[in-house]
Amino acid sequence: MTGDRRGRLSHEPTGEDACPAHVAIGGVTVDPPLVLGPMAGSTNRTFRLLCRRGGAGLVCSEMVSVNAIMQGSERTHMMLETSEGEHPVSIQLFGAEPEIMRDAVPVAVAAGADIIDINMGCCVPKVRRGGAGVALMADPKAAEALTVAAIEASAVPVTVKIRAGLTADDGGYVEFARRMQGAGAAAVTMHWRTAAQGFRGTPGWERIARVVEALEVPVIGSGDVRQPEDAPRMMRETGCAAVMIARGAWGRPWLFAQAAAALRGEDAGAEAALMEPFGVALLHAQMLALDDGERLAVHQMRQQMHHYMKGLPNAGLFRRQINSVDSLQELCDLTLAYAAKVRIVLPSEGSP
Ligand SMILES: Cc1cc2nc3c(=O)[nH]c(=O)nc-3n(C[C@H](O)[C@H](O)[C@H](O)COP(=O)(O)O)c2cc1C
Repeated sequence: MTGDRRGRLSHEPTGEDACPAHVAIGGVTVDPPLVLGPMAGSTNRTFRLLCRRGGAGLVCSEMVSVNAIMQGSERTHMMLETSEGEHPVSIQLFGAEPEIMRDAVPVAVAAGADIIDINMGCCVPKVRRGGAGVALMADPKAAEALTVAAIEASAVPVTVKIRAGLTADDGGYVEFARRMQGAGAAAVTMHWRTAAQGFRGTPGWERIARVVEALEVPVIGSGDVRQPEDAPRMMRETGCAAVMIARGAWGRPWLFAQAAAALRGEDAGAEAALMEPFGVALLHAQMLALDDGERLAVHQMRQQMHHYMKGLPNAGLFRRQINSVDSLQELCDLTLAYAAKVRIVLPSEGSP
């Protein structure tokens, strides 16, 4: 880790191995430097709030289409909604047309964004075909124009999220990241995989390190942080200013607090207490129902329950039952019944 890379961090580490306690992105302080990654279908404001309460320093919305914003889609405008307790929050936008980006950014800022992030890593064919997401990495000029348009229209810092390019690792992503910095991006999030890799492969964090080496602005490292101790390891191995956690937060919004402890060099503590997944899962379900209505909440929680109960005994039957619940009441009853069973199977851990 070099002095100049450290120089842009807002907090100097005290020991050889200490990790920065926070990072400034534009004028926004991210403390601790742990970011909930954007995930389509998951990072709605309920989950973002749970993750902020669970210790995240910054939370991101799922990607939102600038075209849909400007077409006035009601569902899209609901996706933009933020709540008081989740700040700082980054709203991620995707699109290809600078003019539409220019018009949509103020709408997202008015909805509460502290940061605007531009998606340049999504591989979904529909997104790519429209010239957005990772397609922008094949057209740096278009990506620059989009970034400049967003910055000109934005009252808050603008960041970009990229991958390691489209197919083979030809290192082009380093120059691409440099160009986004040149266009004015306040930070770059780097998911270490190429588009061709999708979500597979073993951690290639050295790609994150290459981007860190090349940039002056903070780099947020993304990909495969699952355990609390992965966060300081990624920081040390790559020099990134902040660590993003996406899939690892599913069913474990408290992972951020554990990772923050690991960053401080403290014992991250045991996995959550046995009954914690049940309590947080039920809270998650109820908060979702308040926000999105019972039908959508039950639908989403069928999937989320799998994550909360991962690793618990006899979870197979519970998961099969949960897959067919139709109401919040049914979901609560099943969860409470399963919690009682788990207490019997694991009495010493389950008792207070
Ligand atoms: C279901 C799912 C949805 C995702 N949606 C988005 C998205 O909307 N925008 C984005 O930039 N990245 C998205 N990602 C990528 C994540 O933000 C993250 O970069 C990637 O999953 C690697 O990090 P992880 O190993 O911590 O999950 C998504 C990933 C998953 C698994």
